[in-house]
Amino acid sequence: MNEFDIVAKTIFGLEEILADELKTIGAKDIKILQRAVSYKGNKETLYKSNLHLRTAIRILVPISNFKANSERELYKGTQKIDWEKYLNTNKTFAIDGTTSGELFTHSKYAALLTKDAIVDKFRDKFDARPSIDTENPDLRINLHINHNNVTISLDSTGSNLGKRGYKLRQVFAPLSEVLASGIILVSDWDKKQDFIDPMCGSGTFPIEAALIAKNIAPGSFRKFNFENWKDFDRGLWLQLKKDAKNNEIDFNGKIQGFDMDDEAITISKENARRAGVNRIVSFAKQDFIDSNNEFTDSHIIMNPPYGERLMEDDEIIPFYKEIGDQLKHNYLNCNAFIFSGNLRAIKHVGLKASSRIKLFNGPIECRLNKFELYAGSKKNR
Ligand SMILES: C[S@@+](CC[C@H](N)C(=O)[O-])C[C@H]1O[C@@H](n2cnc3c(N)ncnc32)[C@H](O)[C@@H]1O
Repeated sequence: MNEFDIVAKTIFGLEEILADELKTIGAKDIKILQRAVSYKGNKETLYKSNLHLRTAIRILVPISNFKANSERELYKGTQKIDWEKYLNTNKTFAIDGTTSGELFTHSKYAALLTKDAIVDKFRDKFDARPSIDTENPDLRINLHINHNNVTISLDSTGSNLGKRGYKLRQVFAPLSEVLASGIILVSDWDKKQDFIDPMCGSGTFPIEAALIAKNIAPGSFRKFNFENWKDFDRGLWLQLKKDAKNNEIDFNGKIQGFDMDDEAITISKENARRAGVNRIVSFAKQDFIDSNNEFTDSHIIMNPPYGERLMEDDEIIPFYKEIGDQLKHNYLNCNAFIFSGNLRAIKHVGLKASSRIKLFNGPIECRLNKFELYAGSKKNR
């Protein structure tokens, strides 16, 4: 099969984990970029990227790279591409654009120019044109302009990979599935220790942990844009999905999610059922701060409220201090990871972090702090 360049986009801080994942699906020439990893592969690698990668947001296939110092050069450069390879007059397409630099300041306008260049090319030759469908196009095109450097790619993914498709309902600022699984992979959970999320919201951490533990392909719940492409190989795709199913493994460990909110528990259970992991994940209502339950030798990951909107500022610092006290007293011999976008509050946990990792939740700069809790911390109380 033909090899070509592929770019997997990701979240700041997850590039190395994504590169590790790419090695396991047989990608070649892996290079770490900023919020992206580039590599080479064939159609199988491309399909596997969408099906298997937990920490990629979107998988792009660059088809042209050129310089444009004016709108006219952008139009002409776009017209040089052999669009008939990808589109017919009876197909639909959509363009997403991002621009940086002073030459092209409006990404929507640059995308419009690119669209005109494609449409005009078809109309001149066939007196007919492919139409636009922003919801479910046959071809999703990605335009990226950095100063005068234009890259046009095919977006094989469609709606981003953080939307696995199992979270139909959600509560309280849920994490994207990409970020949640990235945090679990960064935390190096050994899949032997019990996994606990004491503030699980819509259940993203426990469900992603279960998918990892059972080696369930994160892309097995949804559709991708490449399934609409002219060169889509249905036989290959069905085979890869079948292989993925055959490679799922049994998991006999314990994964638990708690939250003080009834609706969060109901929704987490629904989401786990949809993800097919309800037998191995359990959810229960529990107030983390007020509970006296003891947990030992467990792997804890939690994403407490950051305090904007949900809580007043003078409540949030004491709240983080209480989180630290609870961990110290009732979570013996555990590794606890707190992921928070409140960089001030997380300093008040009152435990010494053994590592701090910078990550972003959308535009919010966050920290993933690790706390190693020993039985001794209880005795010294
Ligand atoms: C930022 S959300 C977590 C989102 C979650 N990681 C997800 O992806 O859906 C914070 C959660 O903490 C819960 N929470 C706040 N205080 C709590 C407490 N004392 N005990 C248990 N849960 C609490 C809230 O109900 C909310 O669901």
